[in-house]
Amino acid sequence: MSKPVMTVCITGAAGQIGYALLPHLCSGKTFGPDQPVKLHLLDLNIEGVQTALNGVKMELEDATYPLLKGVVCTGDAKVAFTGADAVIMLGAFPRKDGMERKDLLEKNCGIFKEQGELLNTVASKTVKVLVVGNPANTNCLIAAECAPNIPRENFSALTRLDHNRAIAQLAIKASVPVEQVQNSIIWGNHSSTQYPDINAATINGKKAKEVVNNDEWYKNEFIPCIQKRGAAIIAARKLSSALSAAQAISDHMHDWFLGTPAGQFVSMAVDSTGNKYGVADGLIYSFPVSCSNGKWTIKEGLEIDDFSKEKMKATEQELTDEKKTAMEILGK
Ligand code: NAI
Repeated sequence: MSKPVMTVCITGAAGQIGYALLPHLCSGKTFGPDQPVKLHLLDLNIEGVQTALNGVKMELEDATYPLLKGVVCTGDAKVAFTGADAVIMLGAFPRKDGMERKDLLEKNCGIFKEQGELLNTVASKTVKVLVVGNPANTNCLIAAECAPNIPRENFSALTRLDHNRAIAQLAIKASVPVEQVQNSIIWGNHSSTQYPDINAATINGKKAKEVVNNDEWYKNEFIPCIQKRGAAIIAARKLSSALSAAQAISDHMHDWFLGTPAGQFVSMAVDSTGNKYGVADGLIYSFPVSCSNGKWTIKEGLEIDDFSKEKMKATEQELTDEKKTAMEILGK
């Protein structure tokens, strides 16, 4: 018997990540080869944008995906969120030249407050929400704060792109195929303070640190490379990552809905409340997690050395500061 159709909502669907992501969702790569999907595509209620969104719908029709059971294009978030099983939030206010971080947060607070409140009233209590639009962790926190009817564990922000970047650099360094690298971790914020940690990582089953055996490279090349990779791509492409962001979103949702392989963990920014690594409660902080039955669990018991502690603290501090600013803007 075929599975019931799953409704997937994408906000900011007319943008560049949306365009790169839709083939993953419609081909069965994200939610499984037997999972039919219906898409709710939301973008700004502006004529030119809605016309572009309808152009995407035309292409989806022409791509003749057997799993695609319908496409709704809308400028109304209420229509987009109603009945959604998964919401992928790409739509955010972009950083403009000369804009302070606080101004960016202020613009995005407005968007994620409004959309969080709408999710709270029209979305199913079981909806899973992934926030990608930057500043992703704090936007996610705002949406979750404004949607108290939806369990906090149903909200997450994307750090899988950073995670995948770390896997890729380790594979290149060790000259092995990417699938031989596992259990690298991104701690904290999706920003340049994130801490890419390879202490638990393995390459072909051996400790990655021992295989690479080059602390100088790890600290002075690898960590800054991952932290600044997004900026390097913008400098080269004059556009931010879209192909790799789409792949990372697909990986994140795949693992969240369908589970991580036994013994493996991936990075997801999730509610920090109750974590065993000393990170303050109430943040959306990236941790190593494993997933099964649609739920994530923070991997416990990993050893944290002093170098790691310091890096984890720095990114926690940035998230605490962002939260404080966001709560001031929200008047909470
Ligand atoms: P884009 O600018 O091409 O597309 C964004 C789309 O969102 C546009 O079509 C815009 O009209 C729409 N939008 C803006 N405000 C909206 C609202 N209130 N409601 C609905 N739609 C709205 O941007 P792109 O490249 O697709 O990136 C999307 C976001 O993802 C950006 O914020 C970017 O910084 C972020 N990003 C996050 C990554 C992560 O790892 N967390 C990685 C790469 C990008």
